Amino acid sequence: MVKSLSTLEALFAKKTPKSAELYESGKEFMPGGAMKSLGYNPPLYMTRAADCYMWDVDDNKYVDWINNACAMILGHSPKGVVEALDNIVHNGIVFGAPNNFEKAIAEHITKRIPSIERVRFTNSGTEALMNTIRLCRAYSGKPKIAKFEGGFHGTTDDAEVSIAPSIDTAGSDEAPNAVPEYLGINQSTVDNVVVLPYNDSEAVDLILRENKDDIAAVLYDPKAGNYDIPHEFVRFVAGKCKELGIIFVMDEVKSLRVAYGGYQELAGVDPDLTTLGKLVGGGMPVGAFGGKKEIMDMMDQTKGYKMSSGGTYSANPMTLAAGLAHMEGATPEVYAHLKTLGDRLAKGMGDVFSNSDIPVQILHRDNITSAHLTPDPVRNYRDILKFDKEMRRRLMLGMLLEGQYARELQEMTVSSPMTTATIDDFLGALEKVVHDKG
Ligand SMILES: Cc1ncc(COP(=O)(O)O)c(C=O)c1O
Repeated sequence: MVKSLSTLEALFAKKTPKSAELYESGKEFMPGGAMKSLGYNPPLYMTRAADCYMWDVDDNKYVDWINNACAMILGHSPKGVVEALDNIVHNGIVFGAPNNFEKAIAEHITKRIPSIERVRFTNSGTEALMNTIRLCRAYSGKPKIAKFEGGFHGTTDDAEVSIAPSIDTAGSDEAPNAVPEYLGINQSTVDNVVVLPYNDSEAVDLILRENKDDIAAVLYDPKAGNYDIPHEFVRFVAGKCKELGIIFVMDEVKSLRVAYGGYQELAGVDPDLTTLGKLVGGGMPVGAFGGKKEIMDMMDQTKGYKMSSGGTYSANPMTLAAGLAHMEGATPEVYAHLKTLGDRLAKGMGDVFSNSDIPVQILHRDNITSAHLTPDPVRNYRDILKFDKEMRRRLMLGMLLEGQYARELQEMTVSSPMTTATIDDFLGALEKVVHDKG
């Protein structure tokens, strides 16, 4: 039996007083006190990190399984990235002019991901999606986009529809409603979003056929290591888009970390456009979007199209130099190492839970792993709603007390400084927490 929630919360509070103090005092200046990791309540304030470890203000040491929302793949402060940044810092930081890193990283991306023939850079994944959506509308002349229920594509208005709708507003399984996530999203925006169900080819076929004259693009979030979606499904969706004249956009902002050439390489699809972010910045804010020449060339300012993706800090040298070093460091050999670790982690977690009375589904794609606390398969957003919330929090607090920063065991990622010993230590800690040993 896992310790009770009240016991764990008391132990956690005792271990993290300075974080709690910072959080309380921050409430005067920021809505909600802080931005990140509020789920820990109070959030943990980190002061430094190295390799796969982080230290909080109370000087507790943690193994980092979050890696800044899946962004960091080589651990903290990888040598090549630090050297690249150091060089830029002493040579002017940023100029309102093109820089040589832009061409170098663009070339790297186009070689690494063959579906991308041309690429543009932004400051976040959200901006990459924002520009991609507009580009798809401009290229196709059609007004709507389609996305999957539960799919996440950043925080632009068009994308913040049906990410986590309440079930009473979400409509039927086969034809989900388009539900705005937040106040302030215009109904006219929501009316231009068509929502599709994951893992239901028949329903997707029907909805796309009915709306093909209005849908500019389908945005696809692979939900790698989160939902159980066979590769055949994404191949079906991509094929259907081709058949119906709809642009197929693979959102690889997160999933570039699951394979050297991204999820599209694993699944064997050739998207028209791809969005990128996270690891492409090597720790600096970044986004990128790219794909087929005939679509991307609408961004070519010399050809007189009225399209832009500009921004004061877009394609700045710090981001691109750090990103290039990070991407070059994330070699196929590194990915193979991460897969070995990820496989060991997922199998080990399954073994620990199978010896307990906690129902769990371990979802795993190479180096991203989630433990969903439900007895039923997790094939779409609605399946995830059934998990045991209190047990999730108890496990999270228990693992934090063991020095494992693994956010509710969702989308846990490994990084290259980790070894099999790091995985085995985590599994030992999980065993201890699940069976309350000590
Ligand atoms: C699939 C996907 N798309 C887009 C985004 C948005 O990226 P950013 O947070 O850089 O705006 C995210 C962020 O988590 C993501 O996971």
